[in-house]
Amino acid sequence: MDQVVVQLDGLPAVAAQRGIVHRGRPSAQSSGAGLLAVTLQDLRLEDGHRFVEVGACTGILCAAAALITRRQVTGVEIDPGVAREAAVRTAQAGIGVRMVARDGLRGLPDGPWDRVAGSFAVPAIPQAWLLRLAVGGVLTCTISTGAPGWHATAVIERSPDGTLGGRLRADTWGHVLARGVPWLPVPERPTVAARVRSSVLVPPDFRVRGFWVVLAHLLPGVRRHWPTDPDPDSTVVLVGEDGSRAHIAPDGSRAEVWGPRDLWAEVEQVHTRWSAAGSPTEFDLHFRDERQVVDGGTGLTWQLPGRDGGRSVC
Ligand SMILES: C[S@@+](CC[C@H](N)C(=O)[O-])C[C@H]1O[C@@H](n2cnc3c(N)ncnc32)[C@H](O)[C@@H]1O
Repeated sequence: MDQVVVQLDGLPAVAAQRGIVHRGRPSAQSSGAGLLAVTLQDLRLEDGHRFVEVGACTGILCAAAALITRRQVTGVEIDPGVAREAAVRTAQAGIGVRMVARDGLRGLPDGPWDRVAGSFAVPAIPQAWLLRLAVGGVLTCTISTGAPGWHATAVIERSPDGTLGGRLRADTWGHVLARGVPWLPVPERPTVAARVRSSVLVPPDFRVRGFWVVLAHLLPGVRRHWPTDPDPDSTVVLVGEDGSRAHIAPDGSRAEVWGPRDLWAEVEQVHTRWSAAGSPTEFDLHFRDERQVVDGGTGLTWQLPGRDGGRSVC
């Protein structure tokens, strides 16, 4: 079993009075086994580390962390019912997990923490988490622009002199967005005729994750859409918040574009920049004052959204 659903439509998936419930949309579930394994690798947990997970859900990562660190760990969870159940489950298993029901974006309890795991995706690393990261500490979380599938993993360390630095890695696995934060919207398909171009960039495979992550950040507000009635030739569909849209033939023979922008022409420009920088899949992450700057080499630097909402490309 890869993921465990603990809540359906806001109600416990297993309730004493109702038995096991099978219907409804999952509203809380564990991370996939692959994501949990990668998170544990990135965290490099050791005996005695003070550990907190933000978005602890089932408590399974907390339980693993408590067994490795051999001390009580803390899980922060926005949903009080989910937090309560995780506390009961881990206590029944005799594992030292303290669950705190609160919005983890508003701050962490106690601290400093040697290891911080963010288990939902954020547009940039919340200052509230960085403030509580101990010297020598490691923090990991998923960074997302709200474009499904185009996420990256941030691994940050605080060095002995107190400065922060880290890496951003385009990854197969990533967490879902924070509760209440929607994915980028999918505007209606325009009814007017498309502008058509031939011989365009062949859409890179979706496993070329470094490229798609760069695209997500350099063209904020753009996402891929998977129509429920896909074209038989599996056309790649990109949509922008402003109503711009592009349908690309998988062999690059044809691009149809609608709206104020030629989205595929913009994608081609980003692809040229990414290729010129050596097609990176990992990037440096620098912290300058409160700015978080991603550096992928010459011509491929951008800033994660900050307090000023800045999405600037430098
Ligand atoms: C994908 S689950 C985490 C999975 C966890 N690692 C596990 O394997 O059980 C994400 C969890 O983050 C919680 N969450 C989302 N936004 C949150 C927030 N702002 N503060 C605290 N928890 C939040 C959700 O309720 C959900 O339970």
